[in-house]
Amino acid sequence: MNQNGMNYIPALKHNWLTPLYDPLIHWFESAFKPQLVKQAKIASGHRVLDLGCGTATLTLLIKQTQPDAAVVGLDGDPNILEIAKAKAAKAGLLITLDQGMSFDLPYPDNSFDRVLSSLVFHHLTRENKIRTLKEVFRVLTPNGELHIADWGKAQNALMRMAFLPVQMLDGFRTTADNVKGLLPGLLSTAEFEDIQQTVHYSTLLGTLTLLQARKPVSSNKKS
Ligand SMILES: C[S@@+](CC[C@H](N)C(=O)[O-])C[C@H]1O[C@@H](n2cnc3c(N)ncnc32)[C@H](O)[C@@H]1O
Repeated sequence: MNQNGMNYIPALKHNWLTPLYDPLIHWFESAFKPQLVKQAKIASGHRVLDLGCGTATLTLLIKQTQPDAAVVGLDGDPNILEIAKAKAAKAGLLITLDQGMSFDLPYPDNSFDRVLSSLVFHHLTRENKIRTLKEVFRVLTPNGELHIADWGKAQNALMRMAFLPVQMLDGFRTTADNVKGLLPGLLSTAEFEDIQQTVHYSTLLGTLTLLQARKPVSSNKKS
């Protein structure tokens, strides 16, 4: 648990800042969320989980892009889910929004063809990153894919400096693995295959990286 007694870090660290999340992030999310959805190649009939959905911008984009997919957003924060529910109602789109923790997913094994996650892993300690990846592995179908957008290894000294404000807001403990470029190795630890970093964006807040990985058709793990 963090100092606020919660086992998740809210979108902008403090609950009172949550209503500002969408206006603040709008300037840059449109640069990478459509690309994340595109690379996931979501097909008709797919079951898709948006892990750490926040205000559900990505969740709704998935549903708009592939209306014949069953789309679920999950987040630990009940406050941000209220914003997400209002946005879904306003958009008139049928998505499911669940409260739950990324490292203890409330879904059976093999539930989803795709799991997408945007700007969540830098909120997790290394232990919770690994627990989360193992949970994602469990709920994915064999051959199912995980697609992540999050802060990645700084591509140069300027990008490393630019990332400091994010670290000061979200904490050095949870962000260090991202900026050191350790996410691909953690995916490998969780037995994912075909791990690729597909795009690096240079942003005002550092290097943002898109990744993809696949659950093998047969694995030694219980699935
Ligand atoms: C920076 S926001 C990103 C929200 C959204 N995915 C986006 O791209 O706009 C991080 C979100 O992850 C959620 N979160 C953090 N840790 C979590 C966990 N362990 N389980 C579920 N949600 C978590 C927070 O509540 C927050 O909504």
